[in-house]
Amino acid sequence: MRIREAVRADLPVVAGIYEREAREGHATFDVEGRPMDLWQEKLDATGDHFLVAEENGVVMGWASSAVFRPKPAYVHTRETTVYVAPQAQGRGVGRALYEDLLARLGDEGVRVVVAGVALPNPGSLALHAACGFEEVGVMRQVGRKFDRWIDLAWLQKVLE
Ligand SMILES: CC(C)(COP(=O)(O)OP(=O)(O)OC[C@H]1O[C@@H](n2cnc3c(N)ncnc32)[C@H](O)[C@@H]1OP(=O)(O)O)[C@@H](O)C(=O)NCCC(=O)NCCS
Repeated sequence: MRIREAVRADLPVVAGIYEREAREGHATFDVEGRPMDLWQEKLDATGDHFLVAEENGVVMGWASSAVFRPKPAYVHTRETTVYVAPQAQGRGVGRALYEDLLARLGDEGVRVVVAGVALPNPGSLALHAACGFEEVGVMRQVGRKFDRWIDLAWLQKVLE
């Protein structure tokens, strides 16, 4: 498995993985896929990472970092996210992506990484715990999808 920065040719697969989760899952509060120009915008964003995991030329998942909030004092904080295609889950892809991403962010002087996890999501909670995140709070019922209220757990890791 190889972890690398995404390129334009990866975007259809990346978008497909996300769209499936948007339509069928609750890890994202989007309810449908995002248009390709938004993915291109994300790819073009400077100062942040957009990684893919590839095996034999097949993209199995992706992870990215983004500004947490645009105000200057948040400059050392990033928000991360990760998505792995269903058929590739449970094989260490998410962990490989996240560990690479966290190492890159640490090398660049990022101090804190935060992630919001819509509950329930045992896989995501396990992945974040395995990567050293701690849960810092749960916002109750902030999402509504598939006719139910969804809680959002906030996790954070201080990069030493
Ligand atoms: C959450 C997700 C990214 C995890 O990626 P993955 O490649 O399946 O996870 P990994 O195989 O790397 O496993 C990472 C760790 O979590 C554990 N884990 C993974 N899935 C698990 C599950 N369903 N239940 C319990 N533990 C689980 C693994 O045992 C592993 O721990 P270890 O490294 O200490 O052995 C993936 O399931 C996914 O894309 N889900 C849908 C989208 C999503 O929820 N994204 C997260 C948004 S916050």
